[in-house]
Amino acid sequence: MRVAVGNDHAGYPLQAPLIELIKSSGHQVVNFGTNNEDPVDYPGFAAKVARAVRDGQADLGVIICGTGIGSSIAANKVEGVYCALCSDPYSARMARRHNNANVIALGARVLGPDLATDILRAFLESQPSNEPRHARRRQQVQQIETGNELAQE
Ligand code: RB5
Repeated sequence: MRVAVGNDHAGYPLQAPLIELIKSSGHQVVNFGTNNEDPVDYPGFAAKVARAVRDGQADLGVIICGTGIGSSIAANKVEGVYCALCSDPYSARMARRHNNANVIALGARVLGPDLATDILRAFLESQPSNEPRHARRRQQVQQIETGNELAQE
């Protein structure tokens, strides 16, 4: 897979360990930076990763900021991007299996490198479930996104 990575200054401390994990798992990295701890604004980096996934330049995306919150909000503004903010491996696994998340957000001021690596590994190794109920729910989310929302019971 090609995995897009982007972070702000607060996320930079996790950049190297997560890129190392992606590469050692046999995937390619598309790094959008930032590549140091000089302060920058997170939305632009999150958008670059999100657009790379939307446009097919990357299969999955990883965005890192201080909490992961701002980046996840920004990424989810891009149509076709489903970004999950995760702080544990179980949620990362479920984000892929149940929600078909294609971008993961991580908080470098929340997580140490070992836990962040475990979380990203779970995300990369998991596949979307093809069970009909999950596919139906994902479709309902897409309908909200495109304005074709059906009345829910
Ligand atoms: C930067 O100080 C911080 O606000 C940012 O990295 C992120 O946590 C925003 O959600």
